[in-house]
Amino acid sequence: MEIGFGTGLNAFLTLIEAERSAKKIHYTSLEKYPVEVEKAIKLNYAELIAPEFKEIFEKFHTSPWNETVKISPFFSLKKVETDYTLVDFTEKYDVIYFDAFSPEKQPEMWTTEQFEKLFKCCNFGAVLTTYCAKGDVRRAMQQAGFKVERLQGAPGKREILRAICQLDNLPM
Ligand SMILES: C[S@@+](CC[C@H](N)C(=O)[O-])C[C@H]1O[C@@H](n2cnc3c(N)ncnc32)[C@H](O)[C@@H]1O
Repeated sequence: MEIGFGTGLNAFLTLIEAERSAKKIHYTSLEKYPVEVEKAIKLNYAELIAPEFKEIFEKFHTSPWNETVKISPFFSLKKVETDYTLVDFTEKYDVIYFDAFSPEKQPEMWTTEQFEKLFKCCNFGAVLTTYCAKGDVRRAMQQAGFKVERLQGAPGKREILRAICQLDNLPM
């Protein structure tokens, strides 16, 4: 599950991994402000990353919102147009990409309360990851019950956070 579908880059990278490793992935992505289809299709992610998936990348953006669509043999996508802060989750997830705008721009997204909501929709061993490595964010995740570690970031990003839902932290 992803918070912030945006241009679909995270979803696209995940699809590539699903196809290359032959692992089934059911991907749900929440987005409050969908990017216009024409604009998104102009992005040349596929050309840069995996030209063999060009048509599939377009499908990400042309596929309908609010329903599950099989995009490729190993990858299905459910894009949900919604405000994440108002969602009551009914399903459980194994991986969460927390990819909202920064805490400076959207402080309401990075609170202990919001991470508690996410903790409750985690399967045992689930991983929540985000590009933000701020101390306040790390502590909010810990207060919500996650075990949090700092990892080396991608080039240009010193650190990122990985939060794990462990057995001794699981909600009853
Ligand atoms: C950093 S961008 C995400 C980039 C995206 N993951 C990608 O691969 O292109 C943050 C996204 O969060 C979305 N967003 C902001 N507030 C939101 C909210 N309350 N609920 C759902 N999505 C939200 C923004 O519209 C934006 O697309």
